[in-house]
Amino acid sequence: MALKIRARTDVLGAEISGLDFSRGLDAQDVVVLRDAFLQYHLLCLRSEPLTPKAFVALSRYFGEPKCHVLRRRRHDEVPEVAVMDSTYQHAEDKPVDFRLDRKSAWHTDDSYFEKPAKVTLLQGLKIPDSGGQTRFCNTQKAFEDLSETEKHRVDGLQVVHAYDTVRAPARAAKRTPEEEAETPDVIHPLIRTHEDTGTKAFYFNPNRTDRVVDMERTKSDALLDWVDEMVTQSKYRYDHEWRVGDILIWDNRSVLHSVNMDFPVGQRRLHHRILLEGERPR
Ligand SMILES: [Fe+2]
Repeated sequence: MALKIRARTDVLGAEISGLDFSRGLDAQDVVVLRDAFLQYHLLCLRSEPLTPKAFVALSRYFGEPKCHVLRRRRHDEVPEVAVMDSTYQHAEDKPVDFRLDRKSAWHTDDSYFEKPAKVTLLQGLKIPDSGGQTRFCNTQKAFEDLSETEKHRVDGLQVVHAYDTVRAPARAAKRTPEEEAETPDVIHPLIRTHEDTGTKAFYFNPNRTDRVVDMERTKSDALLDWVDEMVTQSKYRYDHEWRVGDILIWDNRSVLHSVNMDFPVGQRRLHHRILLEGERPR
């Protein structure tokens, strides 16, 4: 079977079929996949579940894997793979207000690092019967659609990303002292230029972006609230319905994502995730 690419929406996402990802890819397919990744920001590879080692091997076509800061999430034998189990074991684990689970809030992975992960790969291993979609927004498109005055207002601003921020409705995961020492606050541009395409995008993380540098808190909050509403509009969005074995590969430099945490209690929801090394946002 030959490689096939099918766009999922006008703004982002493409489905890739016709390849066996448990084997190595040939050079031509890799070129096509990398180009499609830059064009669509999110690839959905229809696959069978991969072993952790085969998943890491696939990720290396797109970059260099890095380990999750939280040691307890790392796979026992393949530490570059993080085990993301979001199953509700008991009825009381499922929040009434989903905003109290950080996965349900829009975010870009790893932005609290000076050099955040450029790419995330996520493979679905156990998928509940309903709910649990991963949702994406294209923040390049959101920037492109601004008026010149609005672009002028935001381009050049610097913002503080913190492991946790009072702006997020839910608190961040606990860190060990070692993990805390690795995650001090960092400053990133609010508008970043993509290293591979030169295109500008909002680099904004509602779970981590705390404030605009040199701006009074109320003004900063008002500006960040406006950014939040604007980038997450439905016209910039794609919601992914998982099938077992699906591998999503997305560009953290140009999309935000969140999870619909509404799915049945007791049904397993399990993913493996790999982050790829990125550069300092500019
Ligand atoms: Fe995430």
